[in-house]
Amino acid sequence: MTDNMTAPPLTFDEVIAQRKSVRGFLPQAIPEELLQKIFVLAQQAPSNCNIQPWNVAVASGASCKALRDKLVAAVKQQVTPNPDHSRPERFEGVFRKRQVETAVKLYDNMNIARDDKEGRQWAMLRNFELFDAPHIAFISMPKIFNESVAIDVGMYAQTLMLSMTAHGIGSCAQASVSRYPDIIREHFGLDDSLAVLIGISFGFEDTSVPANRTIVPRANIEEDVLFLE
Ligand SMILES: Cc1cc2nc3c(=O)[nH]c(=O)nc-3n(C[C@H](O)[C@H](O)[C@H](O)COP(=O)(O)O)c2cc1C
Repeated sequence: MTDNMTAPPLTFDEVIAQRKSVRGFLPQAIPEELLQKIFVLAQQAPSNCNIQPWNVAVASGASCKALRDKLVAAVKQQVTPNPDHSRPERFEGVFRKRQVETAVKLYDNMNIARDDKEGRQWAMLRNFELFDAPHIAFISMPKIFNESVAIDVGMYAQTLMLSMTAHGIGSCAQASVSRYPDIIREHFGLDDSLAVLIGISFGFEDTSVPANRTIVPRANIEEDVLFLE
């Protein structure tokens, strides 16, 4: 666990470089004051016309455990997922290549072979166990909005995760856990007019978990960025 009271503050560059997906957490809860602080900071995320379309529901302690149990039960009972928004069935071309490279790195660290079906199943289930995180935030937006507004929610999610990194808190954005939006709406008493976009498990990183050694590369900017003069 990072001793946030004594550790020197990270520079902005360090915060960006050090944020990574954490897939194994310590049970310790985040102190209430710090919890409030990171969410107050995240509110500074920009949004089109400043509409701030995000709706955020955070489960901690017993509430987090109960939600985890409901999600794990849904997976084990093979309940058909019905996500409010879904990604393409399959990524193709360069996107598939990057997806596979990332999965290989993660599974290698977790010691799961390519043909180890049971191991992969376990790794998938860990998502719904929230990687043992003591907290999860679910971020939703009104169903009437489309991807133009989802951009704002994405900006909020990254601002929140950077705010966590800056304060010694690990996080993992998880589309997987948003595949059961009815369970999530029911758990938090959210209005049916809200679409659940993403869950973010968070807490203090358990550095002994092999998955947390995973650092995945990024493409060179030449692949994605065009500069014209
Ligand atoms: C929208 C979104 C959804 C994601 N969903 C999952 C998920 O369901 N499970 C998971 O383990 N990681 C998930 N991730 C984490 C990505 O795999 C991770 O961000 C990517 O591999 C880059 O690694 P890094 O976050 O460590 O830099 C998600 C990330 C984003 C931004």
